[in-house]
Amino acid sequence: MDLGNYFTFEISKDLPVHRWFYYKEGYAPQIVNHFIAEFQPKQSIFDPFAGVGTTLLAGKAKGLKAIGIDVSPLAVFVSQVKCADYSTKDIQDAKEELKNAFQERKEPTYIWDFELFSPKKFFSKRAYNDICFLRERAEEIENEKVGALFLLALLSVLPQVGFFIKDGGVLREQKSKSAMPVKDAFKRKMKQIISDLESSPIHGQIPEVRLADARNFTDASAEIFITSPPYLNNIDYSKVYGLELSLFEMDKNASYRMRNQSVRSFITKEPQRSGYPEEVEELAARLPVAGEYFADMEKVLKNLYKISEHGGVFIVGNSVIREEHILVDEILAKIGERIGFECTIPLYMERTADVRPAKVKVRESAVVFKK
Ligand SMILES: C[S@@+](CC[C@H](N)C(=O)[O-])C[C@H]1O[C@@H](n2cnc3c(N)ncnc32)[C@H](O)[C@@H]1O
Repeated sequence: MDLGNYFTFEISKDLPVHRWFYYKEGYAPQIVNHFIAEFQPKQSIFDPFAGVGTTLLAGKAKGLKAIGIDVSPLAVFVSQVKCADYSTKDIQDAKEELKNAFQERKEPTYIWDFELFSPKKFFSKRAYNDICFLRERAEEIENEKVGALFLLALLSVLPQVGFFIKDGGVLREQKSKSAMPVKDAFKRKMKQIISDLESSPIHGQIPEVRLADARNFTDASAEIFITSPPYLNNIDYSKVYGLELSLFEMDKNASYRMRNQSVRSFITKEPQRSGYPEEVEELAARLPVAGEYFADMEKVLKNLYKISEHGGVFIVGNSVIREEHILVDEILAKIGERIGFECTIPLYMERTADVRPAKVKVRESAVVFKK
């Protein structure tokens, strides 16, 4: 079976419920199902880097109690909304609210701002106003579940309605891009959500999703974990999803707060330069970001050793930084072994990374940590 295709979000983007919010860094439920079949948990599954809830939804569909954490309030919100159950009345209310959404249109009072630049830079005046209007509208809806669906739909269409693209770790202005009207994109998204809820809802125990930092979280227990941590690739989630995050929290500095709690997978101004795992001491002397990344991962793995009964799986990619090829999968396996896990890398796929001036083959792998 070519499971490599399941390491990315490509398949999830067409799957009911999974597709409600595009998360490039996510994976597909099939990879979770594969490892659930291998570990055979009977009751519970944990995801310390839950993202938009792929593991949680897959666990829910298999009748497991799923628990997830993430440091991004946006990711936690998206996961909670995707994992909730919706009654026939909720669906009816959602249809009704959508029909009336643009009636009695008021001038929005909310001013949307973002830490790094004004969102007005990336949206037409009209789109900016429509976004602020819908943000307020979502808040006013009496049925809170429907209000949350409205907000999710609005957050999910921001890239379609603005003049920017997410290019690796940065948001890049692209004035030539055709931007969809907010009203059309929003209605289309809401219709997709309603249709998924009517035709393919995911039944099971409702997963528990919390805002927490995997580096110091031990307040749960589960039979296994299946997750994909941030890759060592200089992607700062608080920047790439900063517009969505600031709109969600209605707070300009939401991204700044999140950045300080994230795994250090991107180059920071002031590296800590100490406390690196012994497996990467030499590497860290040349590349402090790698030292920090593996120091954070060691903390997470130690916590997972306490939390999980049988161990679990990381889906992770190797990296090229300043022309140095870093075998993240093998280093994580070595750290895991020292902590007490039995580690293997049973699956991987290769892709070509364009690390100018050269092209390099890098692996994305499943690292299994067995207890
Ligand atoms: C590769 S994504 C996970 C995607 C997920 N597998 C999915 O399909 O949606 C990594 C996630 O780790 C989160 N994260 C970063 N640092 C974290 C930390 N210290 N504790 C918990 N989550 C963190 C990011 O916000 C991001 O959502």
